[in-house]
Amino acid sequence: MALERTLSIIKPDAVAKNVVGEIYSRFEKAGLKVVAAKMKHLSKQEAEGFYAVHRERPFFSALVNFMSSGPVMIQALEGEGAVLKNRDLMGATNPKDAAPGTIRADFADSIDANAVHGSDSLENAAIEIAYFFPATDVYTR
Ligand code: TYD
Repeated sequence: MALERTLSIIKPDAVAKNVVGEIYSRFEKAGLKVVAAKMKHLSKQEAEGFYAVHRERPFFSALVNFMSSGPVMIQALEGEGAVLKNRDLMGATNPKDAAPGTIRADFADSIDANAVHGSDSLENAAIEIAYFFPATDVYTR
């Protein structure tokens, strides 16, 4: 497997529940290293830009309102097969369908307040990391 980087966001619901450390612990136990990180309260414009691919979806405005409703924790993760590994740790989009022991099964309340974001491809990971972090703020460890 190749060394990859992916973008992860701990969403406002999970930050409010004070489970940032628990979620970081899952990344670390799975062999993913945090190589960039920041807490940020996204503006509506920043959330819209990030989720631009979902612009036409019926849930877009609710998603943007939720993502800008409180601070999020944003991190780039690095490791072998990081994109899929993080998706596996997250679990299915709807927590009702998420496998036991996944982040969403344990911490998410609903399909719209679902605790975490993770890039869904290597190509999107590069775009999403660059959206939040200048290259000089991503570290090799
Ligand atoms: P999506 O990219 O389909 O899921 P994932 O986050 O697992 O990659 O959707 C992006 C976000 O949009 C999702 O995390 C929560 C929100 N969303 C809804 O609010 N309702 C929905 O029906 C879907 C599919 C997504």
